[in-house]
Amino acid sequence: MNKAKRQTIIAGNWKMNKTPSETTALIGEMKELVKDADCGVVLCVPFVDIAAAIEASKGTNIKIGAENVHFKESGAYTGEVSANMLKECGVEYVVVGHSERRQYFGETDQTVNLRTLAALKGGLKPIVCVGETLEQRELGYTETLLKYQTKMALTNVTAEELKNVVIAYEPVWAIGTGVTATADQADEGNGFVREAIAEVYGKDVAETVTIQYGGSMNPKNADELLSKVNVDGGLIGGASLKAEDFSVIVKAANK
Ligand code: PGA
Repeated sequence: MNKAKRQTIIAGNWKMNKTPSETTALIGEMKELVKDADCGVVLCVPFVDIAAAIEASKGTNIKIGAENVHFKESGAYTGEVSANMLKECGVEYVVVGHSERRQYFGETDQTVNLRTLAALKGGLKPIVCVGETLEQRELGYTETLLKYQTKMALTNVTAEELKNVVIAYEPVWAIGTGVTATADQADEGNGFVREAIAEVYGKDVAETVTIQYGGSMNPKNADELLSKVNVDGGLIGGASLKAEDFSVIVKAANK
């Protein structure tokens, strides 16, 4: 295991929060606090906030991401946004397959795969989310499920394209609940994801993939979670809406 082989990335996932003016204000506050980060810093924001986020982050080390992308380049898909639209706006990353989208918007392993492929084809870096429910964990399916979701999401992704993929292990039971996985559970889950990648692409490639942990990561637990060998950063929901909290997590990744 060699953490030095991969980039640590702390990404915020704002979900359905913040208006454009609030976006300008929050990034204005954040940019000073995270400017010395020696990890990647990404903020994934609602579509309508992208223009404000790009403007507010100009000349800083903050990269902007979207929270979803459609799998077609264009067409009759009312309400959807394509990768080339996002790319032209200056977006670099995109969250794909978040459990809230799987739970509330009919996202399946197949659509997660199609969105991942579309993001890559459009020049975006997908942050692909995988994670088990509490029921799946209690039934003993965590490893099977994480490996299956990871392999399904990466179907037809080449080893070359994989260099632009980030995976986020987010146990569903830990998202927005205040219940964080223990550092060992996070490390184990991320380890299953890495094993799945190794089974398809080989161990050397798997060692280079950034695998984040997400689910109630906060300024208090970030240090311990990020100290684990398989945890290469975080996907942060609630704590990314407060400049100070987010910056403490970014600093924890610097250590
Ligand atoms: P949380 O969300 O940090 O609020 O638990 C994480 C996520 O859903 O990405």
